[in-house]
Amino acid sequence: EKQGFRHFMLKEIYEQPGVVRTCLEAYLDQDWHAGQNSETSPIHLNLSPTLTENLENIQILACGTSWHAALVGKYLLEQLVGIPTSVQYASEFRYAPAPITPHTLTIGVTQSGETADTLAALDLEKRRRGNLETKFQPHLLGITNRPESTLGQMVDEVIDTHAGIEIGVAATKTFIAQLIGFYCLSLDLAYQRKTLSEERIEEILDNLRYLPAQIELILESQERYIEELAHDFAETQDFIFVGRGINFPIALEGALKLKEISYIHAEGYPAGEMKHGPIALLDNKVPVVSIAMPGCVYEKVLSNAQEAKARDARLIGVTAMNDTEANDTFDNLLPVPEVEELISPLVTVIPLQLLSYHIAARRGLDVDQPRNLAKSVTVE
Ligand code: M6R
Repeated sequence: EKQGFRHFMLKEIYEQPGVVRTCLEAYLDQDWHAGQNSETSPIHLNLSPTLTENLENIQILACGTSWHAALVGKYLLEQLVGIPTSVQYASEFRYAPAPITPHTLTIGVTQSGETADTLAALDLEKRRRGNLETKFQPHLLGITNRPESTLGQMVDEVIDTHAGIEIGVAATKTFIAQLIGFYCLSLDLAYQRKTLSEERIEEILDNLRYLPAQIELILESQERYIEELAHDFAETQDFIFVGRGINFPIALEGALKLKEISYIHAEGYPAGEMKHGPIALLDNKVPVVSIAMPGCVYEKVLSNAQEAKARDARLIGVTAMNDTEANDTFDNLLPVPEVEELISPLVTVIPLQLLSYHIAARRGLDVDQPRNLAKSVTVE
């Protein structure tokens, strides 16, 4: 049931505050406070110690939007926990697997739990490690909203993202739920390995708890404006999305969302890469969406945006609501609440989902069932 929404995709975008709330409630210990020597993690994922003890490497296998969630996961696992983490397209890994490393956790990320390439890559990992000595044994973790799926049966343990079934082919609520899964995993490991202080962990958890209200605020304050803005792009043929650091995967996700439902050619780049080629594409017909949130790469992203402006590109900025400087740089703003950089992907993705939705709807397309695509890709 669409419950009054025009499409399932829009309904699912609006379900995101609730999904984040449910997922956090499932895993966060409400009574935990830093410095109380409780000796239990504030995050209750209930993963068995054999999965996470002595861990030296993590590899993540996924496709499409789940692969983008994995890239955010890599950022968190490396920056917060310090574990070298690789992210592989499952469809590539299954024919060219990375060398076998010791004490490695393999994470399969798939909202459907049925994606053929992801299952095949995990199966390969299980088989090729199965007969090796202990330190090379397979440890498989799934991140999915369908623990009952084939993935769920194949892996040792699952982080259930509690997003529920998603009907729109474009992944929205399941993406944000996968991100929450990665935040929970990373913070749990950071607690166990003491790579972050308890105070810092508590601060990040508090920031995560504000998220549902912040996402609601974006939806309430931005949707009408984005719907209007979408009119300008009904005939646009190419879009570029840029971001850096933890928001680079969100640039990729913004571009994928737009191409799959609006059929507009779109590419995502790390903003610093533009000058190595893609900037040659820019002129006044190619809008550039730039994710410019406060944080260590903010100034760099702004100067990359100015380079695009010098090529006459129309600039759209995903910026913090109270950022007045951004006004001078961008032609249009998609403001989101100011959050710390580490949390920012969870808010910056929301206006990009709305933008692609409204451009596709404006073009009169079948948003929930785009041509050539299936909700779950169960064939190779
Ligand atoms: O079910 P999965 O998460 O494994 O699906 C992976 C991709 O097929 C999927 O994310 C696809 O890219 C979506 N249609 C993106 O919106």
